Amino acid sequence: MALIERDSSELLQQKQRTVTVEISDMTFGRLGVGRVGGKAVMVPFTAPGDLVEVELIREHKSYLEGRPLKVLRSSPSRRTAPCRFFPRCGGCDWQHITYDAQVALKARLVARTLSHALGLEIDPDEVLEPAPREFGYRSRVRLKVDKGGQIGFYEAASHRLVPVDECLVALPRIEIESARKLVHALGCGAREIVLAADAKRLVATIYLQGDLGIREIEQAARFVEHNFGISGVILRDARRREVIGEAKIVVEIEDGLALEIDGDCFSQVNHELNRRLVALAMEMGHVGQGVQLLDLYCGAGNFSFAAAKRGAMVLGVDNDPVAVQCAERNLQRLQLGNIRFVATNAEQALSFLARAGYRPDVVVLDPPRAGAGPLMAEVVKLRASRVLYVSCNLPTLARDLVQLRGLGFKVERIRGLDFFPNTHHVELLVSAVLT
Ligand SMILES: C[S@@+](CC[C@H](N)C(=O)[O-])C[C@H]1O[C@@H](n2cnc3c(N)ncnc32)[C@H](O)[C@@H]1O
Repeated sequence: MALIERDSSELLQQKQRTVTVEISDMTFGRLGVGRVGGKAVMVPFTAPGDLVEVELIREHKSYLEGRPLKVLRSSPSRRTAPCRFFPRCGGCDWQHITYDAQVALKARLVARTLSHALGLEIDPDEVLEPAPREFGYRSRVRLKVDKGGQIGFYEAASHRLVPVDECLVALPRIEIESARKLVHALGCGAREIVLAADAKRLVATIYLQGDLGIREIEQAARFVEHNFGISGVILRDARRREVIGEAKIVVEIEDGLALEIDGDCFSQVNHELNRRLVALAMEMGHVGQGVQLLDLYCGAGNFSFAAAKRGAMVLGVDNDPVAVQCAERNLQRLQLGNIRFVATNAEQALSFLARAGYRPDVVVLDPPRAGAGPLMAEVVKLRASRVLYVSCNLPTLARDLVQLRGLGFKVERIRGLDFFPNTHHVELLVSAVLT
């Protein structure tokens, strides 16, 4: 990477640091893409169809980076972002684009990336289901707390705090003012606060800078007693975890099947679309009576419980002991006999299960953003006839599917759900069968 002032590019020689760019596309991120001097130029917070005056700030081998100076002609898909913290707040990166255009752009990105990686024809008009609402959908937000007790999100690609007092994509029950009161009641000492909500409750998890002591526990207990809109608090330091009050949220994964999940445990953030995700996973996995299903990265059992309810024999694996405790508590409450949960790393579980001769019919893989990567070869050793890959990260999904194809699997169906409106992120579900 070289600063363009010191570079000998043609553009620099012409001293043409300010250029006019027509934006034609988006990256899988916050950047609009146009072309200048035969090279791609990436410009944040632009939309396809914009004509923008851009200051070129850096040159990379295959593209230029630009800073938008002025929108000379607005794209028909541009709008004034409804949130007053946009674009400084790094939480949303596509809020300046109308919702219909966001869906069309995401669908095109998904179809293009996966067609390119897998050599398949994917129709962008068929691949993505829009969200029922573009604001007020997120059931969990992770806020940063600075040394002065201010709460907010980081700016994109930075550690600069943008203090906020509301978040439009969060459920209305997620009141940031309540979190601010809690942080102040605790006399600061918080570095991060996670707010998780369902229809009735708001739960706060405070990640402390220092050690958790009796003082923090007493203050949090007093706060919960006075009921400032937070029903439960979980206090965590590097080693300890203390639960105060009612600190579980309820996630109904399908009609008649609700899970109680601790506020500091992973749960899918779009509860409405999660019901669709679970239903699609069961359908695409042909999950039914007697099917042996390995739910790798199972969290609190989002897919495990739906599968067990259909009569599948389920083994759920997750390396977060809190998630597995939640899963086990739900198992006791729901009285299902055909599930086992194990708290361990996916890596260790796979090697143990292969040695033990475990042969599932279906493996559900729902890894964190980094993907399952080197584990794909280990998954295949279990000789399941079907893999269902659930992902919130298109690039790592594409990478892992290429591996899976190389290991003898054929991609059968791809579905996207717009879990995260106003951001470039998307939830994807892919079923692949052993050929
Ligand atoms: C995207 S979440 C999916 C959880 C669950 N499937 C759901 O739908 O709610 C990923 C999960 O992977 C777990 N995890 C992360 N790294 C892991 C690893 N190396 N081995 C096992 N589980 C892991 C996390 O604790 C988290 O619960």
